[in-house]
Amino acid sequence: MLTITCTSLSGGQGKTTASVFLGRMLAQAEQRVLMVDADPQANLTFYLGHEVQENQPTLLEVLKKQVSTEDGIYEVGENLWLIPADDGLDKAQDFLSSSGMGAIVLSKRLKEVADVFHYCIIDAPPQRSQICLTTAGAADYVVIPAEASSKGVNSLIRTLGLIEELKEIDAFAGKILGILPFRDKWVGNNQAAQSKASIETMRTIAETIPVLPSIPESEQFKKAIDKGVTLSSLGFGQLEAPFQQIIEGLQKNV
Ligand SMILES: Nc1ncnc2c1ncn2[C@@H]1O[C@H](COP(=O)(O)OP(=O)(O)OP(=O)(O)O)[C@@H](O)[C@H]1O
Ligand SMILES: [Mg+2]
Repeated sequence: MLTITCTSLSGGQGKTTASVFLGRMLAQAEQRVLMVDADPQANLTFYLGHEVQENQPTLLEVLKKQVSTEDGIYEVGENLWLIPADDGLDKAQDFLSSSGMGAIVLSKRLKEVADVFHYCIIDAPPQRSQICLTTAGAADYVVIPAEASSKGVNSLIRTLGLIEELKEIDAFAGKILGILPFRDKWVGNNQAAQSKASIETMRTIAETIPVLPSIPESEQFKKAIDKGVTLSSLGFGQLEAPFQQIIEGLQKNV
């Protein structure tokens, strides 16, 4: 199983959007995909149409080892499974910090099911929290979505800084697969000046890290999420370019 964490240290950067499309496209390509909702906002759980019932285990119980990892997994589509979250996941913060090895807890839990899935996609939370650290610690690969705006550039700088810090303490052994510009604005054939400037700045900051084809500002992403389908099945296959490139990058490493 290859684990990919979508992470960025600001809200609204496209982490959940990237997680959903990457997961659905891999599942459509007949890969067995485990999605992990590691954000107490639980947007991924909601987008995948899963409702957490009272007394049903979520990522919180899996992290705390109150249940086996397998018991926290629910089928949410063809080739698609989910470890869900709800706002109770916030309680994992204290557990992770007091465990003294917070960064490796999720990685250890996921190893229990590593033979069952081809890919695991983790949707990280936007804050620099213990949950965020454990999602980085579990990653073989990281994708960093960043809005094509000055907020996105700032988020990218902070996220790359965090990854560097984690590398120094051996809490991140993965590779950054790419930076994914999000909500790139175009009017006809003209790219908005702010989008263009932000993506250029991202390229400078990225140095050797690839900057992926961008996710354009478009209603189609929300429509596809609401309908639970891929962009290509709505007739917008060209919007899948960034995810295709990520999948190609992953396949080179299988
Ligand atoms: N291509 C797009 N164009 C415009 N808006 C989009 C597009 N794709 C997704 N959105 C919307 O942008 C918002 C932010 O996206 P998303 O939830 O993926 O970000 P996030 O990084 O996961 O945010 P958070 O940190 O709060 O979890 C959402 O409301 C989503 O519906
Ligand atoms: Mg999100």
